[in-house]
Amino acid sequence: MATLDTVLERFDASKAKVRKEIREGFFHPDGSLAISETELRSWIGDRAVDELKVVLQLSAVLARGAHLIPAHILAQVTEQVSDEARHFDILRALVPADMQADIDAKVAQLPEVLASDAHWASLMAAVDEGNPFAALLDINIVHEGYSAAAIEELADIPFGDIREAYAGIGADEEKHHESGRELLEWLARASAGGAAADSVVAGAHERASGGAMSWSWPAAATAVVSGAHERAAGGAMSWSWPAK
Ligand SMILES: [Fe+2]
Ligand SMILES: [Fe+2]
Repeated sequence: MATLDTVLERFDASKAKVRKEIREGFFHPDGSLAISETELRSWIGDRAVDELKVVLQLSAVLARGAHLIPAHILAQVTEQVSDEARHFDILRALVPADMQADIDAKVAQLPEVLASDAHWASLMAAVDEGNPFAALLDINIVHEGYSAAAIEELADIPFGDIREAYAGIGADEEKHHESGRELLEWLARASAGGAAADSVVAGAHERASGGAMSWSWPAAATAVVSGAHERAAGGAMSWSWPAK
């Protein structure tokens, strides 16, 4: 499967862009933090919201298409739902108590956010047509792959509670990403929906800098933040910097 390998290699290479944006967005060249602790914890609050967004997305795929997913992948995805819920709790606890209501308000808006997301709507339409794989690959290869890469860049963040939380979460996201790759390999072998699977991942490397995934940054990181609002507009995942 040379094509599949090429696509995955290109995707892996695109993680470098994500890593660079994290480094430049969060750290000075000397490795010290370039944003305030409040900004950092506020950003983490948005990542907590993302975790429950994945819970809603996976739940929707499972509710409509669980019977179409091969057993070994279905078992992993079902377990993943509870992993992501646990990540939400862990990340929410890293945010000061007076900022947690903000997280809960954003969680309450998630159904609306997903309903107005054209990319997600197209993935759900595919589920309804009998193809739950594109949605799973989008979440587990693209979203989880970039999440795992981003979390690795945060390994030396100068707050022990955050480092410890991300050490555990990062290992889980890596596992979820691997589950996506297993699904892709299964699809390639079954060659049922293989072409569709290729096309999901084929475009993903371009989304590292926008599109389905949006990375936006604190005001402190001026160079990186320009254009962030456009990027925040779209996609399966939004790493958008919170509006204050
Ligand atoms: Fe997660
Ligand atoms: Fe995950």
